[in-house]
Amino acid sequence: MSHAIPIVGLTAGRTQDGRSQIDGAACLVHGDRAWGVAEERLTRRKHAGGCESALAALLSAAGLSLGDVGLFVVSTCGEAPPDPQAPVYLRTDGRWTLQDMGVEPDRIVWCPSHHLSHALHAAHAIAADHVLICVFDREGTGGERASYYLANGLELELLHQDVISGPFGGAGWVYAQATAALGWSGDMEAGKTMALAAYGAAAENAGLISFDASVGLMKGAAPNGPPPVTFKERADLAATVQTELEEAVIAAVGYWNAKRSFRAVCIAGGVGTNCRLLGALARSFPDKIIRAPYAPGDTGQAVGNALYGCLLSGTPVPELLRSPFLGPNIPKISPELFDVLGNPAATGPVASLEAARLVAEGGIVGICIGRSEFGPRALGGRSLLCRADQAQAVDRLNRDIKRREWFRPFGVMALQADVTERFPAVAQSQFMEIAQFMENTYRHVAIASVHIDRSCRLQSVTDKNPCVNILREIRNKTSNPFLVNTSFNRPCEPIIENYYDAVNVYLSTGIDGLLINHDLFIK
Ligand SMILES: [Fe+2]
Repeated sequence: MSHAIPIVGLTAGRTQDGRSQIDGAACLVHGDRAWGVAEERLTRRKHAGGCESALAALLSAAGLSLGDVGLFVVSTCGEAPPDPQAPVYLRTDGRWTLQDMGVEPDRIVWCPSHHLSHALHAAHAIAADHVLICVFDREGTGGERASYYLANGLELELLHQDVISGPFGGAGWVYAQATAALGWSGDMEAGKTMALAAYGAAAENAGLISFDASVGLMKGAAPNGPPPVTFKERADLAATVQTELEEAVIAAVGYWNAKRSFRAVCIAGGVGTNCRLLGALARSFPDKIIRAPYAPGDTGQAVGNALYGCLLSGTPVPELLRSPFLGPNIPKISPELFDVLGNPAATGPVASLEAARLVAEGGIVGICIGRSEFGPRALGGRSLLCRADQAQAVDRLNRDIKRREWFRPFGVMALQADVTERFPAVAQSQFMEIAQFMENTYRHVAIASVHIDRSCRLQSVTDKNPCVNILREIRNKTSNPFLVNTSFNRPCEPIIENYYDAVNVYLSTGIDGLLINHDLFIK
C-alpha cells in the first residue's frame, strides 16, 4: 500500500474474551479532510463504548460508504493483539462486527500497541519536535503499563515500556482504585478525586504510586485499609494519590531528562486528563513545554489508530487532525425549530457580539458552532459561557444547569495573548490541559474558577476558535479577558453534539441565550 486511501480508526466495543470497553469513538481520514466523534455524543450515554453510531455518522459526513474505506485500524485494551481475522465488535454486546457488515479481512488491521496509538495521537496533536511522550493509563495492549517515546513529528522512538502481567495496573489503574475507594466510578470520575485532592493532606510514603529510578519502573498498589468516611479522610486519600502521581511522573520525566534531550513533554493516556499533574510538571520543568493531546483517554485511540493506518499505507496525514474540531458540521437550522425558539435575536456576524453583550450583563450563553470538539473537554464548539468574575453568574450556572460538586471549579478560557501576558510559563494550553497557579493579583478575574490552592484550569484561545470574537468583545466590554468555559450538557450527560441536543438542554435549563452558528436565540 503506498497511495492515499480513506482510512478509519476505531475503538472496538468488546475484547475477544467478552469484556466490554468504554469510551468508543471513530475517526475518518480522507485526503486533506478528517472527522472524529465519540460514541457517547451520538448515543447520549456518557462513556458509551463501541463505535457503530460514530462510524455511520462519519461516513455520512464524508459522503462515503463502507466500500470506499481502504483500511480500518482498530484497538482495544487489556488483551494481547488479536488474531488478524478476529471479529471487530462495533458494540459492547458483541452482536455486530465489521465483518458482519461485509468488510473483508484484508481491509482490517489491529494496531499492535494501545500505547503506540496514544503516542501517535499525542505526537501529531502537539505538533512539536523533540518531545518526550509518556503514556500512562490503566492498561494497554498485552500488559503495557507505562511507555516512553521520543517523538520528532510522527517518527517515534520507543525508549522503554513497563510491561507487567498480573493484577497490578499502571498509574491510571491505581488512580482508578483510589477513586473507587472514594465511592466514585474509577474509570469515569477521576476528575472528582483530582479536585478533592486540594482539600486534603497527603500521607507520607503511602506506596500507591512511585517511580523506581534504579530500574526506571513505575510502581503501584491499590489503597488498602478501611474506606475513608469523613470529609478529611476522603480528601486526604485524594491528596495522597494525586501527590504520589505527580511525584512519580516528575521523577520519571527527570529520569529521561538525564538520559536524553527533549524540549517538550506530552502526557498521553487517560492520566493526561489530569490537569493538576500537568501544572506540577510545568512548575518542575520550567524550561520544557508541557502538553497533553486533545483526547488523552481511550476515545483518542480512534485518532491514533487512523494515524497508524496513514503511516502503514503511505497516506498523507491531514493537518486538520491536529485540531480537536472534528465533529460532523452542523447543517442549516431546520425551519420548524423557529416555531419552538422564536425568531433569532441576532443573525450573522453581529450574533457573536450580541452573545458577548448578554454574557457581559451576567447571562449564561450556550455555544453550538460548527464542528464539535473531539475529546473530554468543551473547547468553544459546544460550550456554556458566563463571566468568570461574577460569583452570581457562576452560582446560577451551577445551580440551574451543571450541578457539579462544590469542590470542582470550572475551567476558564482567554485569548492566547492574555494568557501569555499573565502566565508566561504557560505559553500554550489550547486543550485546557494545564491547571496553573493564579497569582493573588489576578484572582479577582476568575473568582469562581480558582481552586482553594489557587490553581486554575486554563484554555488559551487562538484565532481559529469559534469563541474568539466573543472573547474579544467581552474583553472590550468588561476589561476582563477570562470567561468561564464549561461543557454544554446537563448533569451526568455527555457534551451535546448537534443542535437538537443544544435546543433540548437550552429549553430545559436556565441557559439565557443560545448561539447556533450565526443565529442567537434569547429567552
Ligand atoms: Fe488507554
